[in-house]
Amino acid sequence: MNIYPYDAVIFDLDGTLFDAEEGITSSAAYAMERLGYPIPEGVDLREIVGPPLVNSFEKLLLLPSELVTRAIGLYHEYFMSEGLARYSVYPHVRSILEMLVNEHVHVGLATSKPYTLAKTILENFGLVKYFDTIVGEANSEDHLGKPELIRRALPDKYNRAAMVGDRRFDMEGANEVGIEAIGVSYGCGTEEELTHSGAAVIVPDTESLRALLCPGGEIPRGIFLTIEGLDGSGKTTQVDILEKALKQYGFSVLRTREPGGCDISEEIRRIVLDANNMEMCASCEALLYAASRAQHVHQVIRPAVERGQLVLCDRFADSSIAYQGGGRDLGMETVQQINAPAVADMNPDVTLYLDINHKIALNRRLSASTPDRLEVENYDFYERTQKVYERLIRDNKKRFLVVDAHRDIQSIAKDALDMVLKRLIPEIKREA
Ligand code: TYD
Repeated sequence: MNIYPYDAVIFDLDGTLFDAEEGITSSAAYAMERLGYPIPEGVDLREIVGPPLVNSFEKLLLLPSELVTRAIGLYHEYFMSEGLARYSVYPHVRSILEMLVNEHVHVGLATSKPYTLAKTILENFGLVKYFDTIVGEANSEDHLGKPELIRRALPDKYNRAAMVGDRRFDMEGANEVGIEAIGVSYGCGTEEELTHSGAAVIVPDTESLRALLCPGGEIPRGIFLTIEGLDGSGKTTQVDILEKALKQYGFSVLRTREPGGCDISEEIRRIVLDANNMEMCASCEALLYAASRAQHVHQVIRPAVERGQLVLCDRFADSSIAYQGGGRDLGMETVQQINAPAVADMNPDVTLYLDINHKIALNRRLSASTPDRLEVENYDFYERTQKVYERLIRDNKKRFLVVDAHRDIQSIAKDALDMVLKRLIPEIKREA
């Protein structure tokens, strides 16, 4: 017996687990354009998310029936190269699936997509492992239809089952099979559509869905991911790209930075980076960074990780150990000691290091904007800082992911994402 209300939950794919709108509509628009047919006036392309494609091309987009097979071919061609890259997992979906599986709830998928495609999508986002059954249409003309898909996705025995979906086909299918119909209004169907097609309950977002399917359940701990690198390593650009990509993979990302991240810590940042504070001694500087960190961990980082979020933090304690311990010569151990009460065991799970030679990094920066107090430091300072980073990497091989940051933005971003995903979702299989 599990502690949740349903012992079997069947999910629809597009518009329920994935925000698929852009991936699907762009693929359909491509197919129509290639065949030289305009989208009929007044047609909302979002209508095609959910129902079988054959129907949509023929009945909604008014394509002559002899062109439908060709249209589907073109659609798939585009979908595999471009459409899939525009898919994104809705936030909290990962934690809902994990919570259900942890309580031995049967988790199934019933989609009108071809089975092979549905499986590829789940694999691409590392979600296959959560599913006991994956049911989709065959790659042929004969369609099983939603009720039969749902029937096949259900286990032999269950006490109380539900179908979760965003379109009328899902609600009607659930009712025909005799299980509860849970409508989600964040997908492509409207609340009206869901109500009229027999939804027993409608939820507006994935947080409410989690509360409905897993009431009182413990949300899995989140992830603490930090990014480190010398000034001039291109960190900010990479954090921007990584943040977007991780959201696409369904992580509920909280982006923050050090020094700063909350009001008190941002005030400390202002003092510590003020170019006029030239008389500030190294210990004062190290203690200010640690003070700012203590508040940040207490107020932002720890609560977010406990809520199940992925905290993406631009710099953390490694920066102090490298810059104040190495650059300012306070020594690694002293700075580690100063930081112990600030970090309070909230150590990063993963740290991405943008590896760049300090001389190259400095040259990059000199061609950019006005440097702040720390940035006007000399070569020796950054050489010492780099050395300590390298020592930290050697001492923490499991935690650090090192990316060569001498290259162009896109190559660095690709490697960084590959490494991070491999670490966070080891079972992921991504299309090249
Ligand atoms: P950062 O905000 O990453 O710089 P920017 O975005 O302007 O490139 O960091 C500001 C500076 O603070 C940077 O030179 C590194 C330094 N720093 C330390 O010396 N110790 C620390 O603990 C932290 C967090 C940053």
